Amino acid sequence: MKKIIFDTDIGVDDAFALAYAAKCADIIGITAVFGNVPVEQVVSNARLFSQKIGLDVPIYRGCSRPLALPPTPPATAVHGDDGLGGVFANPYNGAAPNAIDFIINSVRANPDALTIVAVGPLTNIAQAINQAPDIVPQIKEVVIMGGAFGTHGYSGNVTPFAEFNIWKDPHAADQVLNSGLPVVVLPLDVTMEVHISGDEIRALMHPVLEAISRGYLRYSQVSNGIEGMSLHDTLTIAYLHNPAWFGVTEAPVRVVTEGVSLGQTLRQLGSVASLDNPFAGSRAQKLCLSVDVERVKEHFLATL
Ligand code: BDR
Ligand code: CA
Repeated sequence: MKKIIFDTDIGVDDAFALAYAAKCADIIGITAVFGNVPVEQVVSNARLFSQKIGLDVPIYRGCSRPLALPPTPPATAVHGDDGLGGVFANPYNGAAPNAIDFIINSVRANPDALTIVAVGPLTNIAQAINQAPDIVPQIKEVVIMGGAFGTHGYSGNVTPFAEFNIWKDPHAADQVLNSGLPVVVLPLDVTMEVHISGDEIRALMHPVLEAISRGYLRYSQVSNGIEGMSLHDTLTIAYLHNPAWFGVTEAPVRVVTEGVSLGQTLRQLGSVASLDNPFAGSRAQKLCLSVDVERVKEHFLATL
């Protein structure tokens, strides 16, 4: 099993991913970041959800706002007032040790052996490499859910150009994607392809997942006309388990950090002939642009 840090703004689909990861990865810690809800609520959610699924791992509190931009509102319309469907009495207790220190110390203690799975804004990772650049070559891989490249008609879910996690902190995302770290990107191109229906969730006989996903399912149906919810963050864990389920293209990626397309992810297509090349010096990253939907769903459902 791969040794991972699970960096999250937990959230309904983050919770599905965590339940999945608990069964098929060695989670050494959960690091909270603002995003779907404020970071204090994320800490509370991580604690509550871990207890409910019997997962005993330390929880750390990370960044509460983006690196450079003013904070934007949480995604409570999708994930519920508390980020977990609003169905549990969820005590608001944001106290937890520092996530950035934990990331730095863990990487140094596990050189070349630790994968960071990041399913929220990339602010914690950016802060960790800012504070301790020596960890960059020691991180095995960063597997992120984020971005959109439009290959299957999905170019954004928060604006027409931007995916939520990247849009929440575009500066952090651009930095992480261009710091020399090896990054695997699971963008909307693949995460919007994998849905789970209410019936499939009920068949899991997992009362906690069923309870937290009711509101998300309603939102998907009313707002997007989709019967079922996108499994977004869970695809990072499917990739960890079997990268062969994904069609991967390698290309450098930049993130738009201002203007109308704030948060847009751009990949280099072919060679660049211009004098001013924004991809110059950028490492090619692994972009998952197609997915074997049946295999991923089958494994996810069987594992849970
Ligand atoms: C991403 O946005 C969040 O709301 C989800 O948890 C997921 O990480 C999808 O764009
Ligand atoms: Ca998330």
